[in-house]
Amino acid sequence: MAFEKKGLPCIKVGSSYRYNKSDVLEWVSNNQADEYLLDYFETQQISENLEIQFSYPINNQVKNTSPSQKIKNNYQITIPYLLRHNKEYLDKLLTQHELHELQTLLSKYSKDIQNEEAVRIFSDSYCAILKKRYQSEYEYDIKFDKFLNNSNNLKIIWGDCYKALKKMKSESIHLMVTSPPYYNAREYSKWENLNNYLEDMRLIIRESYRVLDNHRVWVFNVGDVFDNDNLKTKSVWGKRRLPLGSYFIKIFEEEGFEFVDDIIWDKGEVESQRHKNGGVNYPFYQYPINCYEHILIFHKHRLDINKIPCPICGSLNVNGNTQSEIGVQSWECKNDKCLERSPHNRGKRFSLRSNMMQDIFKRKTENIIDEFTLFKWRRDIVKFPPVIKIDQNGNNRLGNSAPFPKDIPEMAIKFFSYDGEKVLDPFAGSFTTAIVAKKLGRIGIGIEINKNFESVIKNHIITELNGIILEEYFV
Ligand SMILES: C[S@@+](CC[C@H](N)C(=O)[O-])C[C@H]1O[C@@H](n2cnc3c(N)ncnc32)[C@H](O)[C@@H]1O
Ligand SMILES: [Zn+2]
Repeated sequence: MAFEKKGLPCIKVGSSYRYNKSDVLEWVSNNQADEYLLDYFETQQISENLEIQFSYPINNQVKNTSPSQKIKNNYQITIPYLLRHNKEYLDKLLTQHELHELQTLLSKYSKDIQNEEAVRIFSDSYCAILKKRYQSEYEYDIKFDKFLNNSNNLKIIWGDCYKALKKMKSESIHLMVTSPPYYNAREYSKWENLNNYLEDMRLIIRESYRVLDNHRVWVFNVGDVFDNDNLKTKSVWGKRRLPLGSYFIKIFEEEGFEFVDDIIWDKGEVESQRHKNGGVNYPFYQYPINCYEHILIFHKHRLDINKIPCPICGSLNVNGNTQSEIGVQSWECKNDKCLERSPHNRGKRFSLRSNMMQDIFKRKTENIIDEFTLFKWRRDIVKFPPVIKIDQNGNNRLGNSAPFPKDIPEMAIKFFSYDGEKVLDPFAGSFTTAIVAKKLGRIGIGIEINKNFESVIKNHIITELNGIILEEYFV
């Protein structure tokens, strides 16, 4: 064998490399290589005179199944097998108590469950034990946690979100979507200056980082308002564009989040007459009207270096992968019986995040993002109108706050959460996020400090959700 092309023997013909049938077949038998080679040859351009025959049929059924479904009868993975196979590592990592807990969890399943299902059950149970360990480091409020978990009804929490977040279990929320209270907005102008406001927000962001599940997302809608920061002067002359989006990004980063994206919400025409500047059409008087807001996307990636099982074979015989994503620990399977190899003949590479994203059990109808939404959000400037909260009769339909349009939580929830998961808006206002979450099959949770509009808000929720039961909690 003279040369290697992507891990397989080949010969040099002129300046290109070709596979030679006998070399490849010899390699196949020496390496006991099996089905992953199918994938390999199906994706390669193989010269026409080179036909490679394998001993089992290549049919569409095999082609379309995931690699772990292809595991052959001579290599059956069961839950007891995985416990034996991973014993050394489990003994090292887990306490006696945790190991016992894992065994108890697994004992509920039949010993005959095989392959893909066995790998999934083992992996989920093992990850659940690790997660529990992390969660036990923080003393959360058990009663509150029960409330959050007792049903999938929409949940209203009345009170300060900082206080509520403090009571919550670590990494128990799957997605956060919010627009924060506006600095200096008329209704709740409680901050002396911009820095006080941002420091309060920082504490809430810090607590949210703990509560948000690992490798999950916070979609944060904020506008760059035109206002006085009250830091140097309080006069109307002190007004300027406050780049809140930028200030928030810095705070989020300092509190551990990764800033990933900034989608601009184009609000279209707006009511302000500011551009007229009192009709003084001379230099230095001209400023445009604000017609955009940021939709910032942040990821949480808490680095966790505990090994996780290979999603294909369930082995904990894995090594750290050098090409990690920022903050995401990733692994490469070293189990020589594992049946998935890359075209470069590397072991399966995976992370907690890629396992979640590639989990075939999550690829069900409820999680498919519709074409309309995909199309609408294909560019990073997206136009849709703001909410008009005063109805035809002049009544305020939605309570105190400036609600954001449903478009924002709809995109956030469809793009960054799965069916049945918990979606939290810590500044719930009229509970737009929670309502949309409920409609999309998620558990919508909102925290709101201002109870003045309680009945308006509840009526709104009940109308939107056709009388669905909601639950309340006071912190
Ligand atoms: C911009 S509004 C959110 C609007 C919301 N996205 C909606 O669609 O209705 C901000 C809300 O946060 C609430 N708020 C302010 N400080 C809070 C706190 N510490 N805890 C909980 N809610 C708070 C305000 O009363 C207001 O309703
Ligand atoms: Zn593997």
